[in-house]
Amino acid sequence: MQSFAEHSDDDLSFPSQSMPTMGTHGKSDELGRGAKEKSGSYSTPIADASELSEMLKFGTKESHSKAENTNFMKGFLRGELSMDEFKCVAVALYFIYAAMEEELDKNQDHPALAPLYFPTELHRKNAIEEDLAFLLGPEWRQHPKTRPSPATQRYVERLHAVGRTEPALLVAHAYTRYLGDLSGGQVLKKVVQRALKLPASGEGVEFFSFPQISSHAGFKQLYRSRLNVIDLDKEMRERIVEEANRAFNFNMEVSKGYILNKIDNNPNVKMSESFSNISSTVPRLIIR
Ligand code: HEM
Repeated sequence: MQSFAEHSDDDLSFPSQSMPTMGTHGKSDELGRGAKEKSGSYSTPIADASELSEMLKFGTKESHSKAENTNFMKGFLRGELSMDEFKCVAVALYFIYAAMEEELDKNQDHPALAPLYFPTELHRKNAIEEDLAFLLGPEWRQHPKTRPSPATQRYVERLHAVGRTEPALLVAHAYTRYLGDLSGGQVLKKVVQRALKLPASGEGVEFFSFPQISSHAGFKQLYRSRLNVIDLDKEMRERIVEEANRAFNFNMEVSKGYILNKIDNNPNVKMSESFSNISSTVPRLIIR
């Protein structure tokens, strides 16, 4: 697998393996870059509203705005985060990424997913495992916190169901998580380090770092251009946008459960979403 670091900015071609057949939808693999950068003669990039990257960006705008404005995210950005909450975040992310990346690995040759398959650059599971070893200790797999909340479990089940039955919809899940992580990661990393007094060397917050990606903006453009060359009809593109909205919703539902220490004071957080009753409702995940 070619790494992103090996791409020049002008090289938006596919890694040599598993070249999917391209349809007519993506007019050029360079649309994501914008004409101005390329030729210097146009003032604005020409974005086509029927392209998947544009459909996703605009079709999830309202969900994004809701996700930004949850109590949890607003508090998180202000650095109002306890160590306990952050451990719950890391655990939830672990189960979510383990499920998503298992399905992406299994479906890596699927024509809709091959262009977006960047395990070296993007996959987060190993980084989260390192974080959990730091946050919960080397025996983190046996730690009582290492179990999915009911909301996390529902997200995980959706990821597996989609991977099993309609892998093209995984595009929506990969987009929602990875482009989101690349967009806000550095800010969130600093907030967490400062709020929880974590070491500047990065232990505990490896999740937020993408060491194989030198330019987040450049990589996001590459990712968008790949979204746009996947051969999908309009109906399928619309279903992917719908699934991305579902993915945002899963993330919001999961984040309600993080407000562990505030449950008693927050009538919006239902007890059923808290981690306090998990052991009776969700079987402990057996990790191979
Ligand atoms: C306080 C919370 C958040 C803030 C302040 C925030 C901020 C931003 C900003 C500024 C961008 C644009 C970056 C750019 O165009 O280069 C962005 C993009 C994005 N964010 Fe967020 N975000 C937040 C939460 C989330 C959450 C919870 C998710 C989903 C789990 C998410 C998913 C995304 C995605 C998918 C994009 C890429 C949009 C696109 O270009 O198509 N964000 N975010």
